[in-house]
Amino acid sequence: MINNSTRGKLIVFEGPDGGGKSTQVKLLAEMLNDFGKKVITLREPGGTIIGEKVRDILLDSKFIEMATKTELLLFMAARAQLVEEVIIPALNEGTFVICDRFIMSTIAYQGIAGGEKIEDIKNIATLATNSLNPDITIVIDVPTEVGMKRVGSKKDRMENKGFDFHHKIREGYLMLAQETNNVFIVDGTASIENLNEKIMEITKRELF
Ligand code: TYD
Repeated sequence: MINNSTRGKLIVFEGPDGGGKSTQVKLLAEMLNDFGKKVITLREPGGTIIGEKVRDILLDSKFIEMATKTELLLFMAARAQLVEEVIIPALNEGTFVICDRFIMSTIAYQGIAGGEKIEDIKNIATLATNSLNPDITIVIDVPTEVGMKRVGSKKDRMENKGFDFHHKIREGYLMLAQETNNVFIVDGTASIENLNEKIMEITKRELF
């Protein structure tokens, strides 16, 4: 059980492919470090030895036959391991955990774009994460054309799914951001510095 008074904070970055999340995760971690906070950064799927193996299966372009339900359960399995092995212990030690993607990715990719029932995904997520929710979620929004262009031609299995799929994801994120607490949308077409400033402002306002 997490003791609320000394608990760290879970900050999640979300958004379509090509939004620049990994750069912003790194910059926010450096700034929180400068503020004297203990910080770890994680990516999903991955972040544990088991999770990285699951990631290899999920992103391998060879597996074109993978069913969306299989995909959903594998993403969630990697997440269950990450929560139990890394996130909960870190939060219990008072660490700020910055995670590149979390449950909202499964809702957007396998739910809204992939067609699986959102209610089912939420129920599986409750089991996988012991009902852990982010303290804040930053959605880096980017038009589908821009995101796909940034990803370029070296695409993984998820990035290969085509324009319409990715457009549904973008629309899905915008919708989910409206209906979920503690979610903040930022403009992924802004400069790296401006985006970092905006994200730092939200983080300080909401969590310090
Ligand atoms: P990754 O290379 O980490 O992409 P990004 O840097 O954009 O996060 O690959 C993760 C891919 O998996 C990405 O296309 C999003 C997708 N994904 C899902 O479809 N469902 C999920 O639950 C998660 C966590 C990721």
